[in-house]
Formats: sequence, C-alpha cells, structure tokens
Amino acid sequence: MTGLILIATISALLEDPLLPERWREMALGFSRDKVVGSTEGTKADPQQESLRLLGEMIFHSNEISGEGERSCATCHDPDKAFQDRQSHPRGAQGIARDTPSLWGVGEQRWFGWDGRWDSLWAQALEPIEAKQEMDSDRLLLLRWIAADSERKKLYESNFGKFPDMAGVPERARKGEDWNPEFLRLPQKKQQELNRAFSNAGRAVEAFERRLVPPRSAFDEYLEALASGDAEKAAQYPVDARRGLIIFLDQGRCVFCHNGPLFSDGEFHDTGLISAGSSARDSGRYGGIMELRANPFNLLGDYSEDSQSTAADRTRRLKRDSRMWGAFRTPGLRGVSQTAPYFHDGSRIDLGEVVRFYSRRQNARPVHQGAGHHGERLVEPLGLTPTEESLLEQFLKTL
Ligand code: HEC
Ligand code: HEC
Repeated sequence: MTGLILIATISALLEDPLLPERWREMALGFSRDKVVGSTEGTKADPQQESLRLLGEMIFHSNEISGEGERSCATCHDPDKAFQDRQSHPRGAQGIARDTPSLWGVGEQRWFGWDGRWDSLWAQALEPIEAKQEMDSDRLLLLRWIAADSERKKLYESNFGKFPDMAGVPERARKGEDWNPEFLRLPQKKQQELNRAFSNAGRAVEAFERRLVPPRSAFDEYLEALASGDAEKAAQYPVDARRGLIIFLDQGRCVFCHNGPLFSDGEFHDTGLISAGSSARDSGRYGGIMELRANPFNLLGDYSEDSQSTAADRTRRLKRDSRMWGAFRTPGLRGVSQTAPYFHDGSRIDLGEVVRFYSRRQNARPVHQGAGHHGERLVEPLGLTPTEESLLEQFLKTL
C-alpha cells in the first residue's frame, strides 16, 4: 500500500507543470535575464553603439578578405544561428573544427573550443589573417577602414587619431611569414599599427556582445516557473518537461551545461574519439600553449585590462597533461539549429549526441579528475530509448 502511495506521489510531482521545488530552482538558473549584452528593455549607450556599428561593418565585409569573397558572416551566418552547419580546417595542422554559433558568446570567459583566446577582441584578429579563413592582413583591414570617411569617423570617435598609413607596406604578412618591409618599420610604428588592429577587434567584440540568443519556448516556460503561472507552464510540451527533468537529474547534464547559456565555460574531456584528422586534436592542452604565445592576449602590450580578473585567470593558467582532449562546454541555446555537433562536427543530429552520452559507444575512458568535477560524470547513463527521446525533445525547445 505505502509503495503505491509513494509511486502516486512521485508521478503527481512529475505531472506538476511547475515542477517540484528542487528542480524548479535548478531550472531557473538557465534564465536568460543574465545574458550579458541583453538588449531587451535597455537603451544602448551611443558611444558603444558607434563601436558596435564599426564592428558590424567589419563582420559583414567581404572586402577585407584576401580574395574579396569571404567575411566572418560567411561562416557565422546570421540566418544560421551565426554558424554554417560545417566544420573547417584550422591552422597549420589542418584539424577540422566545427563552427560554433555566436549567440551569447559574450558570456564566455575563454573563446574557441580549446579556449586559445582570452578575449573576444583578440579572437577576431586571427581569422582575418588565417590562410584557411579570410587570408587577409592587418594592413589591408586598416586601409579598408581608412578608405571610407564614415568608417574612419567611427574608428576615430572611439580610439582617437587613425594611424598615418604613408610609407606603410601593402601587407604585414607574406603567407605564413612576416613581410620584411613591415618588420623594417620603426618598432613604434609597428606597435601603433598593431594597436589599431587590436582596436578593430574591439569593434567586432562590441558587435558580438549584442548577439543575444532569440527567445525560445523554454524561455516562456521559465517565465511561467518564475511567476508560478501553472496555466502558462502547462503550454510547454509535457515530453520536453520530462526531458528537462532527465537533464537536471539522472542525466547529470546540468553539472557542465548550466547558467543562462547552458555552459559552465570550462573544459572537460567527454571521452569523444575525434573524427578523421581531428584525432590529433589536443584541445585545451594545445589551447593554453597558443594562448600564452599570442601577443594579443590579456597580458600583452595591446591589452588594456592586464590588471583585470580575466587577465589574472590567464596569468594563473597551468598546463596539465590531463587537459589533453578537453574542450569547452558549448552553450546549448538554439542547439537544434547548430548541427553538426561536438568540436569535430562528428554527430549529425541531437539523437546521436544523446545516444553518445547514454550508451557511450565509441568513447575513450576519460582521465579521472581532468575537469573540476572529475569526469565521473561521463559514465554511461543507460537511458531507455524513451528517455533518450524525451531528452532530445527537451533540447529542441532551447
Ligand atoms: C572559414 C570559416 C570561418 C571564418 C571566415 C570565421 N570563422 Fe569564426 N570560427 C570558425 C571556426 C571553425 C571556429 C572554431 C575554432 C576553434 O575553436 O578552433 C570559430 C570560432 C569563432 C569564435 C569563438 C566562439 C566561441 O564560442 O568561443 C568567434 C567569436 C568567432 N569565430 C568569430 C569570428 C569573426 C569575428 C570572424 C571574422 C573576423 C570569423 N569568426 C571568421 C570558422 C570561421
Ligand atoms: C563533464 C561535463 C559534461 C556533461 C556531464 C555533459 N556534457 Fe554535453 N558537452 C560537454 C563538452 C565538453 C562538450 C563538447 C565536447 C566536444 O566537442 O568534444 C559537450 C557537447 C554537448 C553537445 C553538443 C553541442 C554542440 O554545439 O556541438 C550537446 C548537445 C550536449 N553536450 C548535451 C549534453 C547532454 C544532453 C548531457 C547529459 C546527458 C550532457 N551534454 C552532459 C560537457 C558535458
């Protein structure tokens, strides 16, 4: 008898659209109010707005790419959740990495799957000069800004006088190497040009910080939870609600996928065996080395925040072999639109992702204790096919 009553109580709790309190509190942690740069109901500061506008121009311009046919938006397409549903080779190693969506990116602490950038402005500089991406150059970019009076005005209203480009060579780089003519410029001149390049990155950052994920069915549900509106909460699909409970409870997903973006911003080894050329991808391990070597990191000459907490995080970084194969937890807002999945783009739909976590076929054993939770969290969950499907339906409402 008692057993029956218990089962009845549990199922009544599961049927409550407002959720039992413990899960409700956890779910409210996903609330979008906290997303940085949220424009809802706020008026933009005009200075910041002029910087954002310049950033938007840079982001969308093909003219700044080496061949004149690519922009940031080619791969981060606003109509495709600011990604392109593809993977791209990067760097000299030609390792394939999936293009991440940029929705809510301003909320992150580290950028890139391996966190090899510690600021958004520094991140923006690399694709411009990378051969595999835009194959352009800092000097082409600066000339492009100077060539148009509006762009130049936007630049100068934020950063003061634009550098004099007389006597400056066409390009700072020749393929992978530096152009000797650029290196022959006086040190001070090179620094002035590099600083202007970093400022162009700051404009792109101002644009990216406003890329707030669109409102979803789940956001409506969270509002209903926050205000205790059972009627509105009941409009959220029952299967998605059950999937949410799995996400919070037996799936343990929330340990890494938490906060308004569903990302803890940290690095974990999920035991994924990377596909193809990405098998050599060292993830966070290599990312830390690259971050340290980058002259545009927060500790470098072009940083304006070398005393900030963000810079402190970079200063304190320690590389550890257990970081090999760890990647930054991706955010999950809009995830139904951002296939393929994982850093190597190896899973084509959310069903495959969920089955990876549930059954862990084709997974390596993970290094114990690599992340700050110890990756015991990624043992097979052994969900039933129905539970897998509920979890997938929940993810689709984000
Ligand atoms: C050829 C395609 C391509 C182009 C062009 C491109 N990107 Fe990306 N972008 C990628 C890929 C792939 C990654 C993942 C790189 C990694 O983690 O190693 C990425 C990563 C990023 C990230 C990090 C996102 C995160 O969640 O940490 C930002 C921000 C970004 N790109 C902005 C830009 C900007 C700004 C430009 C233009 C200046 C640009 N991208 C041009 C493909 C591209
Ligand atoms: C130990 C931390 C951790 C746990 C627990 C975890 N994840 Fe992840 N998740 C990650 C990391 C790290 C990645 C990126 C892995 C990679 O690309 O190599 C990821 C990737 C994903 C992706 C792909 C997103 C994209 O844009 O490519 C989805 C979807 C996802 N996880 C859902 C879940 C679900 C559902 C659960 C629970 C069943 C879960 N995760 C549990 C850390 C975690």
